[in-house]
Amino acid sequence: MTETVAVLPGDGIGHEVVPATLRVLEAVADFEFVHVEAGDAVAERTGDPLPDETVEAVTNADATLFGATGETSADVILPLRDAVDSFVNVRPARTYPGVDAVQPETDLVILRENTEGVYAGIENRLSEDVSTLTRLVTQSASRRLGEFACDYADANGHDGVTVAHKNNVMRVTDGLFVDTIREVASDRGVDVDDGYMDAMATHLAMDPTGYDVIVCPNLAGDMLSDLAAGLVGGLGLLPSANVGSDRGLFEPVHGCAPDIAGEGVANPTATILSAAMLLDFLDHDDAAADVRTAVESTLAEGPRTPDLGGSAGTDAFTDRVIERLPES
Ligand code: NAI
Ligand code: MG
Repeated sequence: MTETVAVLPGDGIGHEVVPATLRVLEAVADFEFVHVEAGDAVAERTGDPLPDETVEAVTNADATLFGATGETSADVILPLRDAVDSFVNVRPARTYPGVDAVQPETDLVILRENTEGVYAGIENRLSEDVSTLTRLVTQSASRRLGEFACDYADANGHDGVTVAHKNNVMRVTDGLFVDTIREVASDRGVDVDDGYMDAMATHLAMDPTGYDVIVCPNLAGDMLSDLAAGLVGGLGLLPSANVGSDRGLFEPVHGCAPDIAGEGVANPTATILSAAMLLDFLDHDDAAADVRTAVESTLAEGPRTPDLGGSAGTDAFTDRVIERLPES
């Protein structure tokens, strides 16, 4: 049966990088695409940034390709991650030949907890003066993330995992987070290390080669992955996969980039590599490998988009990626 992929460009450069990526997917696989919408523009038109039919399409699809939304992001992406029961956001960051990088040896993956922490949405304004936020950490979600991290390390030939936390300050919540993941890893015979997330930011900036698989609470994963993007050449390069037990939502780490939207110069690499993760998830391993090889050789030989010092537009870069795919 043909697999269905929900396609949700969102706002801004989502309308440039997602159509470009669809051309790549069409060249390597035979999916039924279901086009849906969400984000600022829909909210302006209808008052609702996330229409019910979009949630339904994402829930029913085998996988979703998402671009980025704008100011309504939290109203869109958080419920959609829930809709696919996604407990982890997988964010690989590596360098590529031909792309200038602050830290050319970077090759790591951030596994970001996707449902809890300070992004659980439990905020209150208690008075004119006082606002509060409740940080949610459960043993069950930490265990599920720990199991995933061990599976990921095993499947991808990594020696072990490093847990980022701040259990000297958030003793109860990050205490539970680290202890649970340490316990899972030790039961599974996977090497586990841990470190304070603030110090880790410094170590990552100075020598990322010390890291392989970094397991993070939600906010720390968000921040450390943008840091990692800065090490490898920018946000235009970082893909991600929101993985659930049997569905997934694939999206670039970047946002809708209003500063360059409409100019046709957005780098589609992050979204095309997110599509490669989608292909992996649906067991189209050969197609995923072909897409990655085509992207890597295009980055190496050019043309490149302006964020990487080139002058090619989104479509010209994508044309060259497609030309480099094997004939089907
Ligand atoms: P951003 O990621 O949109 O942009 C940051 C900088 O990186 C900008 O200078 C932009 O031009 C550049 N950039 C990002 N992607 C690029 C690409 N593919 N090619 C070339 N350059 C690229 O983050 P920012 O500016 O903080 O947020 C803009 C909007 O996006 C906000 O409304 C924010 O809420 C939203 N956002 C949405 C996300 C999502 O939908 N998952 C994630 C992050 C931000
Ligand atoms: Mg972010």
